[in-house]
Amino acid sequence: MRVLFTGGSGKAGRYVLPYLVKRGHHVLNVDRMPFEHPGVDNITADVTDAGQMFNLMTSYANFGELEPGTGTRQFDAVVHFAAIPRILIQPDNETFRVNVQGTYNVIEAAIKTGISKVVIASSETVYGVCFADGKINPEKFPLDEGYDVNPMDAYGLSKVVNEKTARAFQRRSGADIYALRISNVLEPSDYQRFPEILRDTNQRRRDLFGCIDGRDLGQIVDKCLLKDDLGFQIFNATSNTNMTTMLTREIIDTYYKDVPVDESLGDYQGLSSNKKACTMLGFHEEHNWRKYV
Ligand SMILES: NC(=O)c1ccc[n+]([C@@H]2O[C@H](COP(=O)([O-])OP(=O)(O)OC[C@H]3O[C@@H](n4cnc5c(N)ncnc54)[C@H](O)[C@@H]3O)[C@@H](O)[C@H]2O)c1
Repeated sequence: MRVLFTGGSGKAGRYVLPYLVKRGHHVLNVDRMPFEHPGVDNITADVTDAGQMFNLMTSYANFGELEPGTGTRQFDAVVHFAAIPRILIQPDNETFRVNVQGTYNVIEAAIKTGISKVVIASSETVYGVCFADGKINPEKFPLDEGYDVNPMDAYGLSKVVNEKTARAFQRRSGADIYALRISNVLEPSDYQRFPEILRDTNQRRRDLFGCIDGRDLGQIVDKCLLKDDLGFQIFNATSNTNMTTMLTREIIDTYYKDVPVDESLGDYQGLSSNKKACTMLGFHEEHNWRKYV
């Protein structure tokens, strides 16, 4: 597929884009800075500028596309990852503005130019634990896509609004728009720092002891591109297992005492569930951290 991908130069994109190229997709990366990788075209742009987003939806991706002399072609799909990826990088209002306005602009431009598949990066932070003031427990485990999300921070809130924006545009257009609630993204170099990462139990508790290898995130995005007719959907994009050496039951007893558990959890099963991505998209985790540590 010919895919316009925003934010592909970041931590997640550097693994997702190569995965998509390897799967045969043609990718135009739209970011404030280029990502130099064979098979990836780059145009620098700002997703908060609606004019630029409308322009790019009908753009050539590279000089080679001038050759047939048949004008510009429509992209088959848009994947939107560009964002300020957490609180405390920029002031909260700026994080909210860039993430919410950027997502609105990208989805609106895609839908109004007739693109029928959009995938957006949401976040596990919508579950409200990650950037909460104090230690907040979820209402239940495992966390699934039907959970009544209620974060208290600007970043988590921006992702909740983005899911609603996606749903509104899907409802109006009938296009397929899928939102991925991505867990803490791991890249191969992270595995070198693993003993230290596991010892940071406060951060792990905030991350719901979850993670996703960037290459597996690539697989999920690819599956979303290939799976049609699901309308608006949310998928947890997360590993099968938790990111500690503790049993899941021990994690709950130690860090989330008294949180009710809906269903029987496997020994190391993740606290947010990827069951929906596995059953509806056919996701099959290949890069569980235990393979590398
Ligand atoms: N990394 C994680 O653990 C994680 C977890 C959950 C969700 N996410 C989400 O996944 C997506 C990718 O995250 P990441 O970790 O790769 O973040 P990142 O900051 O490494 O990459 C984001 C990219 O977006 C680009 N960008 C930011 N503002 C832009 C703008 N106005 N116009 C154009 N490009 C802009 C940046 O230049 C950067 O290359 C984000 O939407 C993030 O919120 C990430």
